[in-house]
This record gives sequence, C-alpha cells and structure tokens, in this order.
Amino acid sequence: MSESTIVLITGANQGIGYATAKTIASHPNYHVIMACRNLSKGYEACSQLETAGIKGTLSVVQLDVEDDISISKAVHSVSNEFGRIDVFISNAGTLSPGSTGRDKIGKIFSTNVFGAMLATEAFIPLLLKSTHPCLIQISSALGSLVLASDANNAKSSETWDEYRMSKAALNMMTIQMHKRLKNQKVRVFAFCPGLVRSNLRGVSEEAVTAQGNAGDPMESANALLDIIVGRRDKDAGKFVHKDGCYPW
Ligand SMILES: NC(=O)c1ccc[n+]([C@@H]2O[C@H](COP(=O)([O-])OP(=O)(O)OC[C@H]3O[C@@H](n4cnc5c(N)ncnc54)[C@H](OP(=O)(O)O)[C@@H]3O)[C@@H](O)[C@H]2O)c1
Repeated sequence: MSESTIVLITGANQGIGYATAKTIASHPNYHVIMACRNLSKGYEACSQLETAGIKGTLSVVQLDVEDDISISKAVHSVSNEFGRIDVFISNAGTLSPGSTGRDKIGKIFSTNVFGAMLATEAFIPLLLKSTHPCLIQISSALGSLVLASDANNAKSSETWDEYRMSKAALNMMTIQMHKRLKNQKVRVFAFCPGLVRSNLRGVSEEAVTAQGNAGDPMESANALLDIIVGRRDKDAGKFVHKDGCYPW
C-alpha cells in the first residue's frame, strides 16, 4: 500500500480543484487522484501540473458525479490501485450559467447535491481504511441560512437562489455525515473557498473575475491544505473558511 497521503479531488481539471491538486502535489509524500468527468481534460490538467515540477505524484480517474456507473467504476479503480484514500474533497459543482427554470434547478441539484452525496457515499468505505481520514465538502457562504436571512449581511443578496439552496442542502448533508462518521475518526468539514476566479459563473472575463471582485483560487487551495494537515482539526464538523467558521 502507498505510504503517501492519498487525496482524491472531484472536478480537479480546472478552477479550485485544479489549484488544490497543484498545491497538494507541490509537497512530497502526497498522491493526488484527479477525478474528472472528461478524461482528456483530466490528462491535460495532470500533465500541466507534472511539467510544473511537482514533488508529489498525480493520477487521473474518470468520475462524473451525476453518473452512477462512472462512480462505481472510479471506486473500483481506486480500490484496486490504492486500496484506500486518506482525503476526499467533494469539489465538483456548478452554477449552470445560461440555463433557466426546471433545467437550471435540476442541473444544479443533480451535481451539487445528488452527485456530491452519491459520490461521497461511494468512497466512504475506502476512506474508512485510512488511519487519518478527512472528508471535505466544497460549499459556499451563499448556502448559509443564517447569513442569507440577515439583511445586514453582504452575503444576503437576492440572487443565486437555486445555487444557494443546493449549498444549504450540501451543508445539511455534511452535518449528517459528521455525526455518522465522527466515531470512526473521520474529520468532516464543509468548506467555503471564498469568491475566487474560475469558470463557475461563466467564461467571460467579467464572469471569471466576478467583475474584478474574485480572489486567487490558490488561497482556497492553501486553506484546504491547512485542513488536510490537521491545522483545523478543532473545527471538524463545522462550516469553515480560510479565516474561521461560518454559521450554518
Ligand atoms: N469560484 C468561486 O468563487 C466559488 C465560491 C464558492 C464555492 N465554490 C465552489 O467551488 C467548487 C469548484 O468550483 P470552481 O469555482 O472551481 O468552478 P469551475 O472552474 O467551474 O470547476 C468546476 C469543476 O467541477 C467539475 N464538474 C461539474 N460537474 C461535474 C460532474 N457532473 N462530475 C464531475 N465533475 C463535474 C467541472 O468539470 P468540467 O471541467 O468537465 O466542466 C470542473 O472541473 C464548486 O463546488 C463551487 O460551487 C466556488
């Protein structure tokens, strides 16, 4: 069995997932499994990181969190190759820009809630084989019921309803998983990466940068590394961000 810490990241080919793979794999003794729904995008992202001079190791597995067959093949492949995972980062997510109505809410919930839950549940048996397991759900402050219902809070805008609802559901799932897994020593977190540059909101410069307001996804990645190495263990079971915790 590998001596490295094995970290699986869903949606690792771009954005926060990619930045996180880069940050973790820049340290020796880590192996990052880049789980991507599109294998060619996954291999391209992986080779970009390998040519950037990482110190850890990388591999790619096909994983579409909306496809049960893809999920079970990915579990099988990771189980055969590694026998366990130490960290599962459930990062794949969407805002489904451009869609409307039932299509929009359906797509957002299919990825951010059903996909996150079913992919996570499928990998939990491999996580339980770790001696220091960690499970992180990438959420958003926009999913906080407390912040959304506080009219004075900057995060309470009247926008992103479907996305907010999906992340609120993801947060509930995280609370439930924490209760179920804490006696098995799994450190469970919901994590808000902050408003950072990515294609989540669309591919125009305005959307990527959130009108110039978005920060660097490498900062989110560094905060995730803090969680993985244990610097945030006192916050297990909570909704964390890089500088503290959000109310649910
Ligand atoms: N960026 C922000 O400001 C921000 C703020 C708060 C929370 N978040 C959260 O951070 C996470 C990452 O978002 P991001 O900003 O990095 O966005 P992004 O650049 O759009 O990346 C999203 C990733 O998820 C993957 N993905 C989408 N649907 C998938 C599916 N069905 N199966 C597997 N992978 C799938 C995408 O794959 P493809 O490349 O194949 O599309 C991509 O790799 C999301 O959960 C998002 O809600 C982001």
